[in-house]
Amino acid sequence: MSTLYSHNSNAQFIVRKSGPLRGRVRVGGAKNSALKLMAACLLSEGTYVLSNVPDISDVEIMSEVLESVGVKVIRTDRHELTVWTPKEIACEIPYELVDKMRASVVVLGPLLARLGRARVSMPGGDDFGHRPIDIHLDGLSAMGAKFSVAHGYVEGVVSQSDGLRGAEVLLEFPSHTATENLLMAATLANGTTVIDNAAREPEVADLAAFLTSMGARIEGAGTSRIVVEGVRSLHESKHRVIPDRVEAATFLAAVGLARGEVLVEEARADHMSMLLQKLHDMSVEVEEVPEGLLVRRGTDRLSSVDVATLPYPGVATDYMPFLVTMLSVADGVGIVTENLFSGRFRYVDELRRMGADIRIRGHHAVVRGRQSLSGAPVRAPDIRAGAALVLAGLVAEGETSVSGVHHIDRGYEDFAAKLSSIGADVLRWDQPDQSQ
Ligand code: EPU
Repeated sequence: MSTLYSHNSNAQFIVRKSGPLRGRVRVGGAKNSALKLMAACLLSEGTYVLSNVPDISDVEIMSEVLESVGVKVIRTDRHELTVWTPKEIACEIPYELVDKMRASVVVLGPLLARLGRARVSMPGGDDFGHRPIDIHLDGLSAMGAKFSVAHGYVEGVVSQSDGLRGAEVLLEFPSHTATENLLMAATLANGTTVIDNAAREPEVADLAAFLTSMGARIEGAGTSRIVVEGVRSLHESKHRVIPDRVEAATFLAAVGLARGEVLVEEARADHMSMLLQKLHDMSVEVEEVPEGLLVRRGTDRLSSVDVATLPYPGVATDYMPFLVTMLSVADGVGIVTENLFSGRFRYVDELRRMGADIRIRGHHAVVRGRQSLSGAPVRAPDIRAGAALVLAGLVAEGETSVSGVHHIDRGYEDFAAKLSSIGADVLRWDQPDQSQ
């Protein structure tokens, strides 16, 4: 599958102090929904059409994952994918693909349900540190799959005669992708599966809506108890991906930092209520309007707040780098507690290079607001932190250059162009690749 622009690893974002921001910017489809909807297409032979799919590199990687087992993925339009799943598909996902994107592990449930067998490279730790998949494997084991790990691969098999069977699964933690893996597996299992302490993220509900349109019988998606009555077969379908709440949060934070008034089109308040409450406490006004969210910030200084990240509907860990960046120029001290990923404060060293006063104590960050930051060359360590460093450049004196742009490209389409369309002084500079 081809994309419309290259994901040049030598690229940089060049950012200068900006604001106030004005105008409107449109949020694309949710990365963390689109990737799972693509995996769900493995469940049955047929032609699927997914619209509002963002043009980002993670979607390209998921296309490669599907193509590696024999599926065809065609971008029929910049934001539309047609996925053709043949009758026969393979069951193995190689190391190179899982290494590029750990979310590839969401094919485990669909492959086991469809083929009774799956061999997927075991994801290792990543930018956020230790990231096990035990909750995925425990849940699928309760449904009758047997797993072994050898040569870096996790191999699952299901007895040919029984297939996957419905089970009562209580998740030790409401893991987002484990819930999705089990949900997809359960659609074709024999009998009823109950997933308790399920993740409640809007992307889980979006996946359930797509599966339901394929003929699955699901109740309770979006709550912490999901009940799935297995069916014999599913069928092809069409679906429009929900808007990306993390991309929406990025633009809200941009205005929170650089001031101004911007309409964030398609952003959904009901998908980000707790964040909106925090933004209100920080003196960022957000109003729900028919087209999306209207965000305003005047001349007063941001107020500091304490924040703890939690599974949905709590403040998402993905918003944390934006909040830390805002707190670094707010009035007072804010304590940020990261409860999901042990290694997610790695970008803080980069923000410190821009003059931020942040101390890390275990999984807490103590952020003392300063009047402004100072531009510097910094490196994006992961998707959201990369976007946050670009936002930091909007309130930094002088010039900030953000390298490691391939991380940002994983989750953001046209990030520099969208920010500059609302008045931010941001440009993407694609350096020629020296190695060629
Ligand atoms: N966990 C386990 N065992 C498991 C699974 C998870 O211990 O088997 C732990 C993790 O180590 C972590 C916690 O549970 O401490 C939460 O992890 P979760 O499984 O919910 O995260 P995920 O499903 O791997 C998704 C998103 C992330 C987002 C998190 C939290 C996708 C592809 N990824 O990851 O998104 O941060 O949920 O909401 O949906 C991003 O978009 O940049 C991103 C990282």
